[in-house]
Amino acid sequence: MSETKKFYVTTPIYYANDEPHIGHSYTTILADVLTRYHQSAGEETFFLTGLDEHGLKVQQAAEANGIDPQDHCDKMAPKWKALWEKLHIRYSNFIRTTEPRHEKVVQDVLNNVNDAGDIYVDEYGGHYCVGCERFYTEKELEGGKCPQHEKELEFITEKNYFFRMSKYQQQLIDYINDNPEFIQPEHRKNEILGFLRQPLEDLCISRPKSRLSWGVELPFDNDYVTYVWFDALLNYVTGPGYGSDAESFEKWWPETVHLIGKDILMTHAVYWPTMLMSAGIPLPKTIFAHGWWLMKESKMSKSLGNVVNPLELIDEYGVDPVRYYLMREMVLGQDSNFTMESFIKRYNADLANDFGNLLSRVSRLIEKNFDGKLPDWGTQTPAEEEIKKSAVSTASNMNALTHAMRINEAIEETMQFIRSVNRYMEQQAPWKLVKEDKAAAGRVLITAAEALRVGALLLNPVMPNRTLTVLETLGAVGTELKWGGLIPGNELKKHPPLFPRIEVENKTKTKTKTKTDAKEKSVENVITFDEFLKVELKTAKVVQAEIVEGADRLLKLQIDVGGERRQIVAGVAEFYSPEDLLEKMIVIVTNLTPAKIRGIESNGMLLAAKKGKKLTLITVENPEIGSGVSVG
Ligand code: MSP
Repeated sequence: MSETKKFYVTTPIYYANDEPHIGHSYTTILADVLTRYHQSAGEETFFLTGLDEHGLKVQQAAEANGIDPQDHCDKMAPKWKALWEKLHIRYSNFIRTTEPRHEKVVQDVLNNVNDAGDIYVDEYGGHYCVGCERFYTEKELEGGKCPQHEKELEFITEKNYFFRMSKYQQQLIDYINDNPEFIQPEHRKNEILGFLRQPLEDLCISRPKSRLSWGVELPFDNDYVTYVWFDALLNYVTGPGYGSDAESFEKWWPETVHLIGKDILMTHAVYWPTMLMSAGIPLPKTIFAHGWWLMKESKMSKSLGNVVNPLELIDEYGVDPVRYYLMREMVLGQDSNFTMESFIKRYNADLANDFGNLLSRVSRLIEKNFDGKLPDWGTQTPAEEEIKKSAVSTASNMNALTHAMRINEAIEETMQFIRSVNRYMEQQAPWKLVKEDKAAAGRVLITAAEALRVGALLLNPVMPNRTLTVLETLGAVGTELKWGGLIPGNELKKHPPLFPRIEVENKTKTKTKTKTDAKEKSVENVITFDEFLKVELKTAKVVQAEIVEGADRLLKLQIDVGGERRQIVAGVAEFYSPEDLLEKMIVIVTNLTPAKIRGIESNGMLLAAKKGKKLTLITVENPEIGSGVSVG
């Protein structure tokens, strides 16, 4: 291990076709908070996040949208990056698996694994789940259904390439036992060790192009693409420069912490280390699996339609409170319930009452009694010594808890310190004291201000914006954690209320006086009436419909738009057979640029209603074909 302390953290790479939600935001904020903590401790950091862009899910989403998968990913990537920017995520590198630098790594590693004699061809039959992008064995199914998606699975047989994962079973068990830091928390490690008591099967790592073409081609058989997980996991080594920048790679790997959700533990704790063993790459230091954010006890997910859009929360309450809530509320490793009630409660109690209130009290009293200038330290009494001691121990406890990934407890440590300073203020009552002994009141106020400075520095990784306001107010930007950083005589800067209370009007409606920065406002889902008018909608009749060879989601339709014939390729085959659609009166968008889908020209898109996994075409009764559809 080298002298300089280093910290390399990763998030999972998210499926490009998903809409980002609180669950994804949580992991990414956690990685950002940890990175900032390590930076504040003077360590060098590398933070990798990005998108998983290959695989059936992405291919199907692109088909459903009637666009090429690469165009689809190119459209989605900026959305993810924009959210991370809004959440003040400072990643070092954003990786997309369709980048040439990554595809090269996938092919190189496949060649290495093949050269090691760890890849063979076999006929394989299994129950395939599109949602999980993996085969399930008979015994893994629950009532014939996928345990994650609760969907009946089809049994498919095909020739495929296999990775000899079984060969590494004992080596993996030994590694897990010898490296207690490898899988965390402990109960997840036991889960994996339990799983490894059964014989480990080999891993199917290819998909025939006839079924899935959207992936990295196998370097040794161009009729196949690489299984999306074998491809995606390698992002963690591509990011720091495996195979392209040896110096950078050696600098960051394998001192790595992978943050993941509990649902992707198996791929990370079994597939990934065995792949690395075969490829001769050292194993990462830690895989940390956190729990899920639940909504009304069920997992938040797009298919369940119960996601909390982080952008809406940010617009309403600001970035920092959202970061604070997510970090403070979840006990790492366990599930947490997201509710607006708990969000508001947490905000009002911790941020408005404890933290925000202390700053406004201290600055108001200094303004009123000391011309807005920081008073002298005066002669310290045991009460001040107590606060100072507590500041020092809070900082060191917080450091230890953060390194142990107990972020919520680390935050609570600081909040308890802030609460103790509020109690100190109550006991000392500088507003009364100032009348009898101004120097004593000054001593209390600068001590409380100093405690706020330390608190702001400690919470800075969690709430980088509002804590900066505190530091600016105190003229303490860039100061060190060590007690005593404030300089008497420095003038305080005026500050806006730090965390204005959220006033609850009734149980469901909330109102806040929080003014979020204009650039924090979301414009993502809002269009003006003029913009809407640009969309040209027309009724049309389906006169011919047929399936598209080799694309089980697509139908090719000939439609009559009032005398004009058009061809549309639509991703509706899962829900409608060609016969279902004949003679149907549908609504289409007519003024889109024509696109080529699977090489077939598509000139327009049809409207459909979508809820969860169900899709219903919007049809009309007895219209004149080709009439414009208006709004009212
Ligand atoms: N693309 C794969 C990961 C490949 S990593 C080499 C994937 N992507 S995902 O977008 O479906 O999920 C990414 C992460 O989001 C997972 O860690 C998952 O646990 C997490 N979450 C998705 N929903 C979540 C909640 N409701 N709560 C917390 N995290 C959740 O899997």
